[in-house]
Amino acid sequence: MTRLEGRSALVTGAASGIGRATSILFAQHGASVVCVDRAPEVEATAKTICKAGGRAIALKKDVSDEADVAEFIHTAVTEFGGLDVCYANAGISGGLPNMGELTIADWHRVLDINLVGVFLTVKYAARVMVNAKRGSIICTASVAGIRSGGGGITYSASKAGVISLVQTVANQLGGSGVRINAICPGLIETGMTKPLFDRARERGSEHKIGQLNPLRRYGRPEEIAGAALFLASDDSSYVNGIALPVDGGLSSSLPVVPPRM
Ligand code: NAI
Repeated sequence: MTRLEGRSALVTGAASGIGRATSILFAQHGASVVCVDRAPEVEATAKTICKAGGRAIALKKDVSDEADVAEFIHTAVTEFGGLDVCYANAGISGGLPNMGELTIADWHRVLDINLVGVFLTVKYAARVMVNAKRGSIICTASVAGIRSGGGGITYSASKAGVISLVQTVANQLGGSGVRINAICPGLIETGMTKPLFDRARERGSEHKIGQLNPLRRYGRPEEIAGAALFLASDDSSYVNGIALPVDGGLSSSLPVVPPRM
């Protein structure tokens, strides 16, 4: 259980859902974790880790603000003596407005966090890692960035942008010793998807959630954290520039009705 022993890791969006679960798993595997979120609940994530005997600090920062990003990366380096793993995970959904209703302000709201926020985190983390000649950067994209049906227009475009960013940055970092990969989660029960789960539970249709993928169920944040741990650790030392779906197989198929076995 010590795949990140002696490493320092930073996770954005650490107050809730995937970021919280990943922060806790990284700490369980020996990493010192800088938990970043704009929500004050990020304190609770760091406290949970410290209570269990791990090392973590919480920083209340906004990933879409460049000064904030520069500051939290700097704090990570000074607090834990370097930065080995950076998980740019914070994001928002932006809802499902129709194209005709979408405003430029809606575009900026989603892109500023989901794409520019990821870019800023990658930019400042990469600077530190390139100097150290090692490091693993992970970004949360989505199945919505691979094909349609997983989110609204702005959200899906932002996640396709994250996949493209990861591919391009992997090549710009060529020869540096720094890896960068994306995770594309399917439907996971988190703060972001709570309204969908709440509505389904109210209607008694919870059993229908996640039925579109071959595993016929929705995912848990811990299942994304497991993939993040793989990409963070030396187990993935030759994995670089990929967008890894963790979606129960959802993105493997066109929307067809499979034959019964
Ligand atoms: P969540 O809502 O539980 O967690 C997201 C966290 O990001 C929240 O704590 C929020 O405060 C934080 N955040 C949002 N904007 C921020 C900002 N500007 N600065 C700092 N923190 C900020 O949702 P979840 O699902 O854990 O989301 C994590 C990532 O996973 C997001 O990028 C999301 O798009 C992605 N994702 C989630 C899926 C799902 O089904 N839950 C599916 C595919 C991708």
